[in-house]
Amino acid sequence: MNSSDVPKKPRDRLIVALDFPDRSQAIDLVCDLGRDVSTFKIGLQLYTAAGPEIVRAVKAAGGQVFLDLKLHDIPKTVAKAVRAAAELGVRMLTLHLSGGRSMLESAVAEAPPDLLLLGVTVLTSFDAETLREVGVESTIDDQAVRLAQLGLEAGVQGLIASPHEVSTLRSRLGQNLVIITPGVRPAGAAPDDQKRFMSPREALQAGADYLVVGRPITADPEPREAVRRILAELGG
Ligand code: C5P
Repeated sequence: MNSSDVPKKPRDRLIVALDFPDRSQAIDLVCDLGRDVSTFKIGLQLYTAAGPEIVRAVKAAGGQVFLDLKLHDIPKTVAKAVRAAAELGVRMLTLHLSGGRSMLESAVAEAPPDLLLLGVTVLTSFDAETLREVGVESTIDDQAVRLAQLGLEAGVQGLIASPHEVSTLRSRLGQNLVIITPGVRPAGAAPDDQKRFMSPREALQAGADYLVVGRPITADPEPREAVRRILAELGG
């Protein structure tokens, strides 16, 4: 998949992060937002608490699933996890690009064409000191570009990046990358723990294909209104 193939309707570009401790809150939100949002992100917390059943439940409620498990293990184990996610009918799945070429190629070989494998470069919680602690002397930008390049060579179809990294990644690796950005905050929303964020419109203008938004929607007393404000800002 290329950036030019990404659906251009705002409702198809917004991904809501279901960062909840249990199934019932997550499914209530999916049902509440179902008309306005097509894709929901299930991360480690919810998946660990609710298991694969939560993927089936989100799909049964009409949502597509972005399973954010950030896989990183030996190639065979990751390939089997990719197969299991494909069998669950997941649309997008993340893995750590630092898992290396063989792990990435094994994952790609196991993914059916309708499963988008997305690579995580350097976590936004890392700084230069954290990288050094794990033995990497490069700058964060150089490490992110190196890992992104490795992922693309191995056949990974998209990258997770901060909105601030989008233009560097596109200029160094090509305009047709599919890039998904968290770290999005509408005007007036609390930053929470996001330090380097952009508004939804700025993130699209910076070149993001999909936006992941969690707390500005999940913590709003009127999540549907929060979604509508974001979609209006995005032009639809
Ligand atoms: O609530 P908020 O909008 O900050 O949620 C963003 C989502 O994106 C969370 O699920 C978070 O784990 C995820 N994420 C992130 N930064 C990354 C990768 C993932 O915030 N670099």
